[in-house]
Amino acid sequence: MGREDSRGDRGHFTGNPKQAAPGHSIGAARLTRRSLLRAAAATAAVVPFGSAHAAGKPVPFGGAIQIEYLDSDPAYAKAFLDHCDIIMPMNELKFSSLHPAREAFNFAPADRLVDLATTNGRRSRGHTHVWWNALPAWLQAITDPAEAERVLVEHIETVMDRYRGRLDSWDVVNEVIAHDPTEEGVMRDSYWMRILGPRHVPVAFAAAARADPSARLILNDYDLEFAGDRYDRRRAIVLEMVRQLQDAGIRIDGVGIQGHLYADLKIDIPALARFGEALKSLGLSLLISELDVIDWNIRGGPDEQDAAALIIVGDLLEGVFASGRPEAVITWGITDRYSWIPDVMPRRDGKPSRPLPLDAQYRPKPWFEMVRRRLA
Ligand code: G3I
Repeated sequence: MGREDSRGDRGHFTGNPKQAAPGHSIGAARLTRRSLLRAAAATAAVVPFGSAHAAGKPVPFGGAIQIEYLDSDPAYAKAFLDHCDIIMPMNELKFSSLHPAREAFNFAPADRLVDLATTNGRRSRGHTHVWWNALPAWLQAITDPAEAERVLVEHIETVMDRYRGRLDSWDVVNEVIAHDPTEEGVMRDSYWMRILGPRHVPVAFAAAARADPSARLILNDYDLEFAGDRYDRRRAIVLEMVRQLQDAGIRIDGVGIQGHLYADLKIDIPALARFGEALKSLGLSLLISELDVIDWNIRGGPDEQDAAALIIVGDLLEGVFASGRPEAVITWGITDRYSWIPDVMPRRDGKPSRPLPLDAQYRPKPWFEMVRRRLA
């Protein structure tokens, strides 16, 4: 059995004395009778996000869209409409975008993107409630744990209430696992960790489950697909978090593998297969939630970059599909014209990065054709 199957290392929410806030237990956030009744009453009007997975239908393909290019580049929105079943806001549902002041929400940008999806018969999903990044200063000035918890729960309730029926899946928590758990402990440092400890994870999932019983509730993280101890450990921590949530009676429906793929690393296909199987045995599914290719270490030009991308994306799909069809495959953008990768990890030779399924002229790459065939 791989490390993912071990249940020996408990205490991610409760047992790390450096990280946990004292005096709280995961069990405090159990589902209430009201939330169970609401769940039972939820109608089937919204197509459940996991239905493709269950029914063997085509796996939905999606992309994360950025509002700042909608007006300046008409081809941009068209590309999403031409290619995507799911169109989701990249940044507009993050805490600081939605909730710039304690008493003020700013829904307009997110509304515009969600409306673009739904008025065109596409689906959309939410990213994200809990993240170490994109937090407003007013929130981080709160030093009382009870107040911080109240703000978090109210934020989740308000946002999920507003988008109920329009966002059928939510990244409830994003990037909560330590970047390198072989050195840093289990969970990533963040405002939420410092103020609430590890229990901010069950608090957030319980609030999300109460707020929208029909939405798929996802734990989203990166570096879950490569070969090596650090990645084994990160996969094992995800499984342990899922088990702890379930032991506490708190719903979690799936795990998002972000899929920011370093084209020069190796995907651990058997480990991904075991990871997916372990999640399946716990009743959860996988989705690929932020796919793109980081080609900064690939020598050569577009042909070499695209050849490397074809291999790494193909390996990811093989590992993920080994345990069944994922809920969705979503890319973090649609065209090389707009991506975070050349800003953060530019190519050393100064040539353009090629991270996304369409090139800068909106022409599909070979790996995009392969993905579409695989999802069909
Ligand atoms: O829209 C403003 C613009 O008005 C302003 O002039 C400009 C000046 O810097 O900033 C623009 O906002 C930027 C926004 O992206 C839109 O481009 C923000 O500064 C910038 O911080 C923001 O970065 C986003 C980042 O998350 C932080 O929220 C990236 O677009 C987005 O791709 C990235 O996405 C993350 C996922 O959420 C989680 N996984 C990793 C992924 C990549 O880092």
